[in-house]
Amino acid sequence: MQKKLHRTVVAKAKTVWMDGRYLPLKKAQVPVLTHSLHYGSAVYEGVRFYKTKSGTAIFRLDDHLTRFLRSARAIGMHLPYSKAELTRAAITLIKKNGLRDGYLRPLAFYGGQMGMSPVDCPVRVVLAVWSWPQHFETKAITAHVSPFRWRDPKSIVFDTKVAGYYATSILATLEAKKSGFDEAILLDGNGYVTEGPVENLFMVKNGRLATPRAAGVLPGVTRDTIMRLAKVKGLTVTEKNITVAELKKADEVFFCGTAVEVTPVSHIDKKKIGSGQAGAVTMLLEDNYRKVVHGEEQRFKKWLTDV
Ligand SMILES: Cc1ncc(COP(=O)(O)O)c(C=O)c1O
Repeated sequence: MQKKLHRTVVAKAKTVWMDGRYLPLKKAQVPVLTHSLHYGSAVYEGVRFYKTKSGTAIFRLDDHLTRFLRSARAIGMHLPYSKAELTRAAITLIKKNGLRDGYLRPLAFYGGQMGMSPVDCPVRVVLAVWSWPQHFETKAITAHVSPFRWRDPKSIVFDTKVAGYYATSILATLEAKKSGFDEAILLDGNGYVTEGPVENLFMVKNGRLATPRAAGVLPGVTRDTIMRLAKVKGLTVTEKNITVAELKKADEVFFCGTAVEVTPVSHIDKKKIGSGQAGAVTMLLEDNYRKVVHGEEQRFKKWLTDV
């Protein structure tokens, strides 16, 4: 049997950027009475950078930073840095760490005092980078339908990445692992499919793609990329309510996100999906995605920020 382990991320960062300064990782520390540590009042992004023929480039940085700023606003946080400043810092940081490809983690959090309201807390901002070649160890992964329900869009600002929201993702991930699956698929309050703990989901039936509506999921940058690439390839993509029964009868199912990139799902709750391997549409999109992030598709070079 194939070994299917979640890859443990070893942060190999030497230098991080914290509140405007480049520091050795060991020196970038926070006090224990930090608001976000207690209440989840932090916002974060996950961004990848890749080797291209003309050097390293960050994929869709501007879109990630737009969401970063939106996430901050959602919890009343005024970031003391502009997108342009964060972009410059990210580029310098990647260079300082000598990485050709890897993962960039922008994080903003409330420091300071205790009590639910963060209005008087200082805002701290960090950028860290590390090498993260692959999120899952195997190509096609298994998933199960989680007993935990996805976050209600009425309880959160849905198109943001606020750390506290991710409690559900942690619960679902632990439960999936405990039950012997690689990943969880969460349903909404009405029992429709939403997404994975940190990634969006697509299904393919008779050559047509479908994905849950944006209003019930985090509308991911990768989801958007896949939809655009599918369009270029002449594939139909419908955003709609998807039932578990429909998902299990799909010819192909795949997850997508910055961390997992394009990851095919071989089984859901032990039911084989299609052939149990990456299907033709998934492979086509994965190949195309890979080319785009590596700067091999001229028309999408606008998505790359050179380092
Ligand atoms: C809940 C959730 N869904 C989907 C995604 C994928 O989003 P993106 O493609 O922007 O990385 C993420 C990752 O940020 C996420 O946390």
